[in-house]
Amino acid sequence: MKFELVGMLEGQLNANLDEKRFLHTRGVAYTAAALAMRWYKYEIDRVMIAGYMHDCAKCMSLPQQLRAAEDGMIYLSDYYLQHPKLIHALVGPAVAQEEYGIFDREIHDAIRTHTTGAPDMSVMQKIIYVADFIEPNREGIIMKIENIRETAFTDLDKAVYMIADRTLEYLKKQGADIDPLTEKTRDFYKKLIEEREGVE
Ligand SMILES: [Fe+2]
Ligand SMILES: [Fe+2]
Repeated sequence: MKFELVGMLEGQLNANLDEKRFLHTRGVAYTAAALAMRWYKYEIDRVMIAGYMHDCAKCMSLPQQLRAAEDGMIYLSDYYLQHPKLIHALVGPAVAQEEYGIFDREIHDAIRTHTTGAPDMSVMQKIIYVADFIEPNREGIIMKIENIRETAFTDLDKAVYMIADRTLEYLKKQGADIDPLTEKTRDFYKKLIEEREGVE
């Protein structure tokens, strides 16, 4: 079983991440485990590994992240260079592989899309995207998070849509640039839900 690996990763991340980031990371791993129980598709330990790994590059300095991108031959568009907070998701898979020995491609995809989402995600990608937003430590920060938490266990696609939509709304309110991938995610899942509801 990979649960030994889950425990080992938890210990490593506890040492490598600052306390706040570690508590968030553990919250994501356990929320992802709960979602994996509901949206049965993967072994729970695999989903927990994705949860533990999702922010593994977050506590690296920006120069370290840029170096990891260079070493991993990861292309960073101008948009990413202008919004360096997003870079940890793109370099995360390389860090998970090099520093933690995680080679699972599906886990890499889930790390890569955890901040922006993407159209047509796998169940694991959706679980990590949603868990990152609803994990218990987010309490009180995000308005009406309870609705999204409930929806995550009844309609995963709808929860993805709600999160992307809420994120865009937040960026707009802040006067920040609209993230193009979050917009694509929102549009894809909005259409999916509309088509599905139209058919029923
Ligand atoms: Fe993140
Ligand atoms: Fe996160």
